[in-house]
Amino acid sequence: MPANARLGRLADNPFARLGDLLSDVVPRLNEPPLLMSVGEPQHQPPAMVARIIGEQAHLWNCYPPMQGTPQYRAAAAAWLTRRYRLPSGMITGERHVLALSGTKEGLFLVAMLAVPEPTARALPAVLLPNPYYLVYNGGATMAGAEVVYLDATAATGFLPDLDAIDPALLDRTALFYLCTPANPQGAIADRAYLEKAIALARAYDFVLAVDECYCEIYDGAPPTGALEVCAALGGDLRNVLVFHSLSKRSSAAGLRCGFVAGDPALIARFQHLRSYGGAQIPLPLQHAAAALWDDEAHVEANRALYRRKFDIAEKTLEGRFGFYRPPGGFFLWLDVGDGEAAAKRLWREAAIRTLPGAYIARVNGGGENPGQRYIRVALVHDDATVAAGLSRMASVL
Ligand SMILES: Cc1ncc(COP(=O)(O)O)c(C=O)c1O
Repeated sequence: MPANARLGRLADNPFARLGDLLSDVVPRLNEPPLLMSVGEPQHQPPAMVARIIGEQAHLWNCYPPMQGTPQYRAAAAAWLTRRYRLPSGMITGERHVLALSGTKEGLFLVAMLAVPEPTARALPAVLLPNPYYLVYNGGATMAGAEVVYLDATAATGFLPDLDAIDPALLDRTALFYLCTPANPQGAIADRAYLEKAIALARAYDFVLAVDECYCEIYDGAPPTGALEVCAALGGDLRNVLVFHSLSKRSSAAGLRCGFVAGDPALIARFQHLRSYGGAQIPLPLQHAAAALWDDEAHVEANRALYRRKFDIAEKTLEGRFGFYRPPGGFFLWLDVGDGEAAAKRLWREAAIRTLPGAYIARVNGGGENPGQRYIRVALVHDDATVAAGLSRMASVL
């Protein structure tokens, strides 16, 4: 069978591994199974989504523009400008934004954009946080780069230590994926951290891809964004791309609407690349999505619902499993000693599925997997379900 050998290197799908781990484990508890392994929002998106899609039904016959409609791109630019208090005109829909069929598509393709041909002197490298979101590895591997996993542990504030990256590695770095708020740990990169990352991207001329898709799910202050830092540095957007999505912000994962924004030279090349391999968003969906980017009320209500779930988690788990209240995102990252064993026990004794941390992280140079001790728990269900699930969890672990 003809095959791209690079695909053979992609064997890290965490949900396939979880399926294997639990395949012969039968829950003993006579309760409905609870899936806390998947980060799928369970709140409903605002009713306007269905209404607008219905109103725009006459557009289903049309091929949508790959880059997004002018209205969609303008709504994204206006939201960025409001959300990050950017100077007016710094981000325009036309020059700085491309619609994406969910950030997943763009995060994969950005590696095709950034990674050059290898040379006899150097193999291009792509840097990822460790633990990481699967698609970063997928893009980097399929683009033919060496994938370098940078530990993001409690000791480094759950973000990669930028000062520890070897300059020889930075010399051949083509792309650096950063996730803030981070999945799974919820850590938020502050202004100084982002400034340093941007400075490195410019000094070593690599693409800094900042995945900000959890930026509207936060506990205290709104997370700083990379474009906000670019604005503070004088407005230069060179080397910086940010990725945003309605999947978490508006609980609209099924709409598949996101965008990439930033450096206009990179955006122009990204548009060219996507004209070959991108996925268009149907026009009725773009109309609904533009209205969601324009609306804040539903986002505030959504955030309040997540805060309540973290209140419940704090009450139930405080003082156990290294519990901390994550500043962003909707996951708990619990230190249970052995993540795989805990996930198995939770399924068998409590009918709860969680994700072993080791499945979303790689063994580092020191022979350790920084996710080994952890499970990731998605806090996405309604309050009563979260409360019942977490007390079941606390009683069997
Ligand atoms: C860190 C991270 N980035 C990107 C995505 C992709 O989201 P979407 O394609 O729905 O925008 C996810 C989805 O779970 C994620 O966790």
